[in-house]
Amino acid sequence: MPRLVGARTWKDDEPLECVSVVPDGPGVVSFSFRSPSGAWFDYQPGQFLTLELPLPGGKAYRTYTISSSPSRPLSITLTVKAAGASVGTRWMLDHITEGTKVKAIGPGGIFVPDVPFDRKLLLISAGSGVTPMMSITTYRWDLGGAPDICFVQCARRPSELVFRRHLEHMASRVPSIQLHYVVREDDPHGAWSGYRGQFNQLMLGLMAPDYLEREIYCCGPESFMQAVRDMLIGFGYDMDHYHQETFTAPVLTEADAPVLDDVVPDPESSSEVIFSRGGASVICAETDTILTASRGAGLNIPSGCNFGICGTCKVRKLAGEVHMVHNGGISEEDIEAGYILACCSHPMGKVEIDA
Ligand SMILES: Cc1cc2nc3c(=O)[nH]c(=O)nc-3n(C[C@H](O)[C@H](O)[C@H](O)COP(=O)(O)OP(=O)(O)OC[C@H]3O[C@@H](n4cnc5c(N)ncnc54)[C@H](O)[C@@H]3O)c2cc1C
Ligand code: FES
Repeated sequence: MPRLVGARTWKDDEPLECVSVVPDGPGVVSFSFRSPSGAWFDYQPGQFLTLELPLPGGKAYRTYTISSSPSRPLSITLTVKAAGASVGTRWMLDHITEGTKVKAIGPGGIFVPDVPFDRKLLLISAGSGVTPMMSITTYRWDLGGAPDICFVQCARRPSELVFRRHLEHMASRVPSIQLHYVVREDDPHGAWSGYRGQFNQLMLGLMAPDYLEREIYCCGPESFMQAVRDMLIGFGYDMDHYHQETFTAPVLTEADAPVLDDVVPDPESSSEVIFSRGGASVICAETDTILTASRGAGLNIPSGCNFGICGTCKVRKLAGEVHMVHNGGISEEDIEAGYILACCSHPMGKVEIDA
């Protein structure tokens, strides 16, 4: 993958400055940011940033996929949707305007197509899950040539399909980008000639008859991704070529739960967590996490997703053992260097943390 050469790249100790706020659908807004120092953004399509939002009750951290493409490195765009009860994203919609400065952590994430340019892609998304697909498609389009991408976007209604004009512009110039939309219901007084209903096996076969030859990337609500996985497994697709990104904590049934290792935190066993910089120590159960223990000690380790994907809660372990089950939010190098993710690490006995 081409990288920026010679340019000064943005580092997350510099707050971002908002340069545009654009509505992209009902309740959906795209915020673009630049680096005030003029540094360029170096990331990979599909990666995310975590924003530090100064809410009235204290800082909150929210993770958003970068919907723009690293091939356009002078600014970065996050496209967000505020659900009914949203606090963090709603704050962004109400408070971030041109000129607002926001702290961000990252970029991070491993939902990045690490396959050759000529590998055919099938990108399947629902709702906000379209954001990584937008970055991946724009990036490949900007590289030139003829990326073979079958892009499937599902939404409740046609008016909720995000980036439609931008996608259609790209597809109109590169015939090997094929767009398919699926909606559950019509807009009142709007004509719709595309697919209607739940995305299903029949639609998949019509949209991408060669899906067995494609690398598949999927992002959307867990129930949606589960249905896609079931469909592909039923068709005999080689799941080594299936990749997904989850925006919410995975809900695992007992049958789905991965067999990890023989370490099982015991609710009856107690552990001690020492926070060396905070000068506090907490007695807790092994089933507690380092994050909940820190809160019990009155400390505030920043956290975003709380399920081991965003990396916001990374801290250094100085001594002792933890049982960590993360979702890709920490690299092997960081683990070897002694770092852990506080939100998904359980203390096993006496543990000392640099916090
Ligand atoms: C890797 C990744 C990429 C994402 N990309 C996007 C994107 O491109 N666009 C977008 O709109 N949203 C994205 N999200 C979801 C986003 O981070 C927020 O979770 C979502 O917007 C809800 O936060 P809120 O502030 O709107 O709601 P709130 O109701 O304020 O927050 C939700 C509540 O759940 C907790 N919480 C926050 N984030 C999560 C989470 N991910 N899972 C479970 N609980 C959580 C909070 O602590 C809070 O208590 C992404 C999430 C992840 C993990
Ligand atoms: S809060 Fe996201 S990895 Fe811990």
